[in-house]
Amino acid sequence: MAHRPELAGELTGIGATALGVAFLRAEESRRADRLFDDPYARTFLDADGVARSVWTAAPASTGPGFAELMADQVAVRTRFLDRALLEAAGAGCAQVVLLACGLDTRAFRLDWPAGTRVFEVDFADVLAFRRTCLAGHGVLARCDRVEVPADLRDDWPGALVEAGLRPHVPTAWLAEGILYALPADAADLLLDRITCASAPGSVLALDHMEDSEPLRAARRAISAELVDLWRGGPAGDLASWLRGRGWRPALRDLGEVAAGYRRPVPPAFDPDRAGTGRGWLVTARLVEDRR
Ligand SMILES: C[S@@+](CC[C@H](N)C(=O)[O-])C[C@H]1O[C@@H](n2cnc3c(N)ncnc32)[C@H](O)[C@@H]1O
Repeated sequence: MAHRPELAGELTGIGATALGVAFLRAEESRRADRLFDDPYARTFLDADGVARSVWTAAPASTGPGFAELMADQVAVRTRFLDRALLEAAGAGCAQVVLLACGLDTRAFRLDWPAGTRVFEVDFADVLAFRRTCLAGHGVLARCDRVEVPADLRDDWPGALVEAGLRPHVPTAWLAEGILYALPADAADLLLDRITCASAPGSVLALDHMEDSEPLRAARRAISAELVDLWRGGPAGDLASWLRGRGWRPALRDLGEVAAGYRRPVPPAFDPDRAGTGRGWLVTARLVEDRR
């Protein structure tokens, strides 16, 4: 997870991956049959100054580019995770933590139950970039929003508690677009820390995916740095990984969820194509107290 802090207005390294997601959310929001509307995603691209063509670059092999491979993955996961968080908040998780939130705008665009507090964790420069972009657009949070600048390799639970998180009441956690950027031991540590900061009844929502040659080629077409950012995430199967720490998981295959939204299987995860990987969307409920 190489990271070079920059002034707000320019994102590099892993922080720049948040711009790729924002690009796809902006594109999805233009569709008549969109799965969600993120009216702020375009603001980040306008501010960044990086040509949008970066994200649509096709690999030299003439295979599909990042946007083509990932557009439906991002659209489907965003819709699924929007619902998962709102359901958890509606069912009593009055505090929500968006880990590695990047340019996520859920605090501004979702209809949160009254009294919901949303904590947003990412590098300080990523949070500052988002704040600077949204300032001046009259964008108001629809919850009690708390930014928590932190490096997920450091003591981020301590930073959250200092910012007001109450570990003794249930929390809805989101780990979106982050697990595959972690080596297995860092993924384990992340889940251990989430678990230790969670009361029973907490909910964890996440996406995960396997790497594949088409995805590697698409990342290579953007930058060598992006190729190296992929570390694979948890070793072994996701359900056991979660169950072993007291969570009761519900795993959904990405293609299945896409079909439910009348979207094609995202091409990098289509089992009928050669060289593809699997993708999952997961919600899990903590059933044991591990604190
Ligand atoms: C692919 S983006 C996903 C952003 C967001 N979750 C979404 O899906 O829109 C990955 C995010 O992880 C953040 N990130 C990566 N490593 C991190 C770390 N060690 N500490 C804090 N944030 C990190 C990056 O800054 C970036 O915003």
